Amino acid sequence: MALVFVTRKIPNVGIEMLRSAGHEVVVSGKNGVLTTEELKQELAARPYDGVVSLLTDTINASVLASAPSVRIVANYAVGFDNIAVPDMAARNVTVTNTPGVLTNTVAEFTLALILALTKRIPESDRFVRAGRYVGWAPELLLGSDLRGKILGIIGVGRIGAEVAVSASMGLGMKIIYHDAAALPQFEAQVPSTFHSTVETLLAEADVVSIHVPLLPATHHLINAARLALMKKTAYLVNTARGPIIDEAALAAALQNGGIRGAALDVFEFEPAVTEALRTLENVIITPHIASATTETRDKMSEMVAQNLIAFFAGTPPPNVVAH
Ligand code: GLV
Ligand code: GLV
Repeated sequence: MALVFVTRKIPNVGIEMLRSAGHEVVVSGKNGVLTTEELKQELAARPYDGVVSLLTDTINASVLASAPSVRIVANYAVGFDNIAVPDMAARNVTVTNTPGVLTNTVAEFTLALILALTKRIPESDRFVRAGRYVGWAPELLLGSDLRGKILGIIGVGRIGAEVAVSASMGLGMKIIYHDAAALPQFEAQVPSTFHSTVETLLAEADVVSIHVPLLPATHHLINAARLALMKKTAYLVNTARGPIIDEAALAAALQNGGIRGAALDVFEFEPAVTEALRTLENVIITPHIASATTETRDKMSEMVAQNLIAFFAGTPPPNVVAH
């Protein structure tokens, strides 16, 4: 029997699975993100064997110092940039994530943002609610079509590939992509063109969607110089991680007509949002909810439990992250 700390309430299904497997689970009673000090205090209170962390928790050597008995950190997310993986490896702590179960959900959300942005749906909704709709007009709130337009995918992992499939098959968009190398299997699945540099992709795309993880190499991947390469009619969508975009540079590009619009589910200084982005009409901002469906958040909870249960049974957890 192992003792597990969960840093914030997650859907019950995984907690129940852990308890049914005989483990003791303590869930943080705070209705919010624990500060690093609070997290350290909680972890120091009992000899925990495992931790369920959220993407809002910073897990590093200093936190682990308060939890010397912890052997596994199971992140309730596919992204794990909140965890200092080398620090974990140095202490022989296993790290797991929740890949696969949220791919379709995040891809659907990305498509929803692309459609909402190019059809100006949130802006139109605000317009009607504000009592400004006085009658049909030929040039009222004109948006852009997607069929035949070029979608540039930056990062063809599971999610990027799924967005490409739907945009190509469903919306009739042409797909170009940038990744570390060309992906023949992906190209066999989706008619698409590889760009070896992000620059040429940005110059060509009508819609750019980001699907890379946050790493030192992808921090501010989208900066002022690269935004300047984009078409003035282009749109930028980010459902990956906020710091991949230099948010001040993006706000400037949106304000001065450098690009036509942006849809962001993630922010550089989350949960803070750059003031200009909150006031611009051509920006859609959502609170990091791309994977937030009842089905998927339950599956993520199950996956966290499966990883912990396997680990404590002495078998390899299914979703150990690569270090
Ligand atoms: C959400 O952002 C995740 O990484 O699961
Ligand atoms: C994340 O799951 C990705 O590989 O895109």
